Amino acid sequence: MNQLLDHRNQSRILIGILFLLFGFSFLLLTYGCSQKPAGLVYLDELGAQQVTAGWSESKANKSIDGNPLTVAGQLYERGLGTHAESQYRLNLDGRALNFQALVGVDDEVKKTQRGAERASVEFIVSARDKNNNKKVLWKSGLMKAGEPAREVKVSLKGFVSLDLVVTDAGDGIGYDHADWCQARIEYAGKRPEPVKPYAAAPYILTPATGPEPRINGPRVFGVRPGSPFLFTIPATGQRPMTFAAEGLPSGLRLDTNTGHITGAIDKPGTYNVKLIARNSLGTAERELRIEVGDKICLTPPMGWNSWNCWACSVTDENVRQSARAMVEKGLINYGWTYINIDDCWHGQRDPKTGEIRSNEKFPDMKALADYVHGLGLKIGLYTDCGPKTCAGYEGSEGHEEQDIMTYAKWGFDYVKIDWCYCEGKDPRVAYKKFGEAISRAPRDIVFSICNWGVEKPWEWGESVGGNLWRTTGDITDTWASMAGIGFGQAGLAKYAGPGHWNDPDMLVVGKVGWGPELRPSRLTPDEQYTHISLWCLLAAPLLIGCPIEQLDDFTLGLLTNTEVLEVDQDPLGRQADRVFDGDDYQVWARQLEDGSRAVGLFNLDAYEFRKVRIDFAAMGLGAGSYRVRDLWRQKDLGVFSGGFETEVPPHGVALVRLWKK
Ligand code: GLA
Repeated sequence: MNQLLDHRNQSRILIGILFLLFGFSFLLLTYGCSQKPAGLVYLDELGAQQVTAGWSESKANKSIDGNPLTVAGQLYERGLGTHAESQYRLNLDGRALNFQALVGVDDEVKKTQRGAERASVEFIVSARDKNNNKKVLWKSGLMKAGEPAREVKVSLKGFVSLDLVVTDAGDGIGYDHADWCQARIEYAGKRPEPVKPYAAAPYILTPATGPEPRINGPRVFGVRPGSPFLFTIPATGQRPMTFAAEGLPSGLRLDTNTGHITGAIDKPGTYNVKLIARNSLGTAERELRIEVGDKICLTPPMGWNSWNCWACSVTDENVRQSARAMVEKGLINYGWTYINIDDCWHGQRDPKTGEIRSNEKFPDMKALADYVHGLGLKIGLYTDCGPKTCAGYEGSEGHEEQDIMTYAKWGFDYVKIDWCYCEGKDPRVAYKKFGEAISRAPRDIVFSICNWGVEKPWEWGESVGGNLWRTTGDITDTWASMAGIGFGQAGLAKYAGPGHWNDPDMLVVGKVGWGPELRPSRLTPDEQYTHISLWCLLAAPLLIGCPIEQLDDFTLGLLTNTEVLEVDQDPLGRQADRVFDGDDYQVWARQLEDGSRAVGLFNLDAYEFRKVRIDFAAMGLGAGSYRVRDLWRQKDLGVFSGGFETEVPPHGVALVRLWKK
């Protein structure tokens, strides 16, 4: 019996021990799981390819200029060096734990006084949950050069993506070198993955131009009495084509084979001319209103400029090639007109007379102008109101009148006047000298003020004789630069009109490079549609910045859409303004001469398609129905009442025109 009891007791004790052991190991296991060291990834380990930068290329473990990451004298071994505006998205799986970094402006900007003063950024960390709700987790506030790094440590629990953004803090992207030092994520589940911003393969929306004749380009043209007249009838369609014009004022003659109208009109007034283009397939007609008075440049100038492609390496031959290609590739048939030489053509002044001469790359400016005119195009050049140009060539200070008269003698039709070495000057006074000289010149010269928006040229540009004025610093081929400038034009519409235009800088499509080596624009195809759509809505001067002879089919499509260009060239000259400003979308609209509206629906998100809606009443259009036409595809979309909604690609646009039914 006792033995039996002992046996039972022994078994109970054994079972108890087993239970305890089991329980203990279970506890150990669960404890172990919850305490399993989290994964840790330093963002530099993921590379910097998907970190967008408003200037140059982002780098891992280096500043944007390629130096060791340094903020306020403190060296950091690892991290990401970028430049505002910058965006970086990482996909998470809801089980990431936290993000930490030390952020600041890299000391390298302090190499110049201008850099030290102008650098200013804001770092913003936000995240989205699985329902796509965005939450801003941290903002650095304004940060300037020399300030010690600020620490960010935020929880990422439950989020499925993380956005690291650097903004320009509202003052332009100049010198905004930004460092995410020691940036790292702790995670329990999957390792975070960088997301590539969306970029479609190039796709052409512009329908092929038909073989029948069609007259394009401006519907109104201004000229001063007695000034040499040159207007080429822009007509697409199969060649041979012949031209006619009814009601040409006396003093003008038409070359019926080329469509070039030349001569001079002495008598001021309005002349309504009927232009006619014929080929074997038919006849096209269109009214052109010629205004002979004191105003020129009644629609925004369209043409080419050498700077964004060749910059200082430009030669006489580059200019001739682009001019020839304007004709051979047919751009002239859509209204493209000016061939403008930017910086780096000046030589020395004549020691006796002070007259400016071109340098060895431009052997004969008059011969070049004659050549370009012979093609039915116009020609422009560049100078500076200071003693030197931005590239260090001879400026026009003290020679304002003399230089304008020299350009007129050579036969130039357009002058862009820059603002380097002019600090301390009153731009109104400096530019007025040129404006007065231009008004006395024996030919019409479009006057382009290029002082980068200093002292709001939109407020005084017209009064000093300006036909256009730059509103910002220089553009480059990044989304941050192009979109920053383009969408930054809000509020300027009231300063634009026939003869005087806001200039958001030249186009960065096709091949650019600012030197002898060219590369395709870094803007994605959708960003390029946004660029052209926005510039046309803005009634902006359209100056192509790539060699015309190297235009590819995609870029040609961008630049030869008659319905899109018609928005830019609308005779009413009303610039678009922003009508909706959403978190990641905007809507811009302008009124056109026929009472219709051109509207751009823009998606500002870099990663996702989104629906953008316009509400007719909220746009001030009143109730009722509207016929909506897609301008890029040149297709009616239907009649809509109340509003219109469409899906827009990342960084892309839907450009539509609305007619009241
Ligand atoms: C300035 C202007 C540019 C270009 C260069 C030439 O930067 O803003 O458009 O003309 O000078 O040096």
